[in-house]
Amino acid sequence: SAQEKIPQVEKLLAKMTLEEKIGQLNLLTPGGGIATGSVVSEDVETKIKAGNVGGVFGVSSPDKVRQAQDIAVKSSRLGIPLLIGSDIIHGYKTTYPIPLGLSSSWDMELIKNGAQIAAKEATADGINWNFSPMVDIARDPRWGRIAEGAGEDPYLGSQVAIAMVQGYQGEDLTQPNTMMATVKHMALYGAAEAGRDYNSVDMSRLKMFNEYFPPYKAAVDAGVGSVMTSFNDIDGIPASGNKWLLTDLLRERWGFDGFVVSDYTSVNEMIAHGLGDLQAVSALAINAGLDMDMVGEGFLTTLKKSVDEGKVSEEQITIAARRILEAKHKLGLLDDPYRYSDESRPEKDILTEENRSFARKAATRSFVLLKKHENTLPLAKNSNIALIGPLADNKNNMLGTWAPTGDPSLSIPVLEGLKNVAPNATINYAKGANISDDSTFAKKVNVFGPRIQISEESPETLLKEALDLAKKSEMIVAVVGEATEMSGEAASRTDITIPDSQKKLIRELANTGKPVVLVLMSGRPLDISEEMDLPVSILQIWHPGVEAGNAVGDVLFGNYNPSGKLTNSWPRSVGQVPIHYRMKTTGRPEPESGEFQKFKTNYLDSPNSPLLAFGYGLSYTNFEYSDVKASSNELGANATVSLSATVTNTGDFDGEETVQLYIHDKVRSITPPGKELKGFKKIMLKKGESKTVTFEISAEDLKFYNSDLKYVSEPGEFDFFIAGSSDADFKGSFTLKK
Ligand code: IFM
Repeated sequence: SAQEKIPQVEKLLAKMTLEEKIGQLNLLTPGGGIATGSVVSEDVETKIKAGNVGGVFGVSSPDKVRQAQDIAVKSSRLGIPLLIGSDIIHGYKTTYPIPLGLSSSWDMELIKNGAQIAAKEATADGINWNFSPMVDIARDPRWGRIAEGAGEDPYLGSQVAIAMVQGYQGEDLTQPNTMMATVKHMALYGAAEAGRDYNSVDMSRLKMFNEYFPPYKAAVDAGVGSVMTSFNDIDGIPASGNKWLLTDLLRERWGFDGFVVSDYTSVNEMIAHGLGDLQAVSALAINAGLDMDMVGEGFLTTLKKSVDEGKVSEEQITIAARRILEAKHKLGLLDDPYRYSDESRPEKDILTEENRSFARKAATRSFVLLKKHENTLPLAKNSNIALIGPLADNKNNMLGTWAPTGDPSLSIPVLEGLKNVAPNATINYAKGANISDDSTFAKKVNVFGPRIQISEESPETLLKEALDLAKKSEMIVAVVGEATEMSGEAASRTDITIPDSQKKLIRELANTGKPVVLVLMSGRPLDISEEMDLPVSILQIWHPGVEAGNAVGDVLFGNYNPSGKLTNSWPRSVGQVPIHYRMKTTGRPEPESGEFQKFKTNYLDSPNSPLLAFGYGLSYTNFEYSDVKASSNELGANATVSLSATVTNTGDFDGEETVQLYIHDKVRSITPPGKELKGFKKIMLKKGESKTVTFEISAEDLKFYNSDLKYVSEPGEFDFFIAGSSDADFKGSFTLKK
């Protein structure tokens, strides 16, 4: 490792046999969590006793973790404690909104705080190592795991990565309420071709460095303890066996000194990728710089042979074992294996009122108001509401993807939440439609529970009940969208619209002439072109977590004025995908008017612009931007320029606004993005209030990777604007001097 050697670790290493070192590189799961591959580990206890296991995941609660540590400490020759891993992606038992939702808050303190609370809950339950944050840049909403990340932008993605690493790990990993974080999935997993999960990735180095790597690097710079490899190949070599990625880049260029773990059986999967047999791919992986093998046991069963045959050096195995032991040292496990086995903690620390109220607040901050129609919102607390839709009274779909530690039965459905927040309102419910009428589709979605339940009643009867209820009510709130496992791992879609069964319901509700609020739930950007044209208001709520209904009530009834902003561009159709706001202008830019012009870069049948831009999101109030200016039109190489704007709340409600700074590098040695986010600040403005928001920009902020992959800024002119969304026009410029 790059860091100084730790005497306690070196002493242990000196005592270890080759087999025991290889044992530390083996990560198993007895299957207590959710299995996302076809293999679950067998004979885990025997293997721990034999010194063949470095860590386990899918084991939780202080007593079970104590038992596992007991086996390792008391029954294995050297008594080395285990890493206890878990996937805590958006809260432990107190589930927050899916990460894509949380990122829409643009509130880094909130995100960090969420990670701190998750760490406190998880460590109370015995876990010391988390497989989060997932920071894969994703620009393809067909890909289901877009739900798990922070969207399309490298700058915002990096800020989120830092907040999460700091939140999980705290200042001191030996503290029993902090856990080691894992940045994943290194690398480029979100760029899977055609949005199909686990698919190949092929990308230029320039794009990797400028667009996709920044969040992983930010996590490394923030001190993340471990890195997980991705399933995809990069330049033809799967990440788990890619020496350029794991050694040249991660270790040598970025200076990472933690350990690298594979994804679930991703070493073995290199056989299917076509790189050889288990011995060959395991040797490839360890020689590339992979330290720990998740579930596949290729390291355990073949590395000794490879050492004997001279295909892997013993030194390489010692290096990897050292890194695992150093992680255990950082966590304080070598001094006290039972540090995370305090039986009194779960009751005090897990699912407390305080944590639930955090989850409620986080959910309200993640909602994005996509459309306001005729001042329908906020609703009066004594309204007579027809609450309609298959997701309106549905505990099974509130938590979202990758929430294996959460309990859906504890979640607050929207119906209950609205009644909690507005006890004087009249709220009647009808399902109106199935999430999908397609039973084959439903079967694929229902792998972890009954997410799509097709009613015995016919679709016509469901619709009629809803329309009858709507007629008797003052207004309609329709909760529609995607079930939980319609996004997430291995949940790619080629059609990203709301399922037909619900689209029909929405059209009919809009036709009633009553005020309609669509409360839209999804784990990805959807194509809602049709719904945006209907006379309805639309509130995007993602999958909001355990406090879902209460948070929806808070926002619909105006206890909180929505402030979320999209962190992905939402396409007009799947045909625009992949789509993002940093697209280059090309040599034949589309006309400024957006009108079609032959021999320019545009489509015959669609504008280039997305339906909803990155950074977009409305509020019950309105914000106006004025006086956008630079303190100077020149920026010296070692100076800063202040870019500022005045923001005024011109509407009728107090509200929060995320003020965003974008630049365009007008001349550079490689083609620049059309726009680049360079800063954002979330501010609170009372009704009628104005504030001036300033961003200090230096040459450092204007750097990019050039053709030689050097991180440089180049002198010349930069345009900029400050606005509430990425689709605004440039307002000023400054010149970076030599
Ligand atoms: O952490 C996950 C990863 O994101 C996907 N494959 C399984 C891992 C462990 O559960």
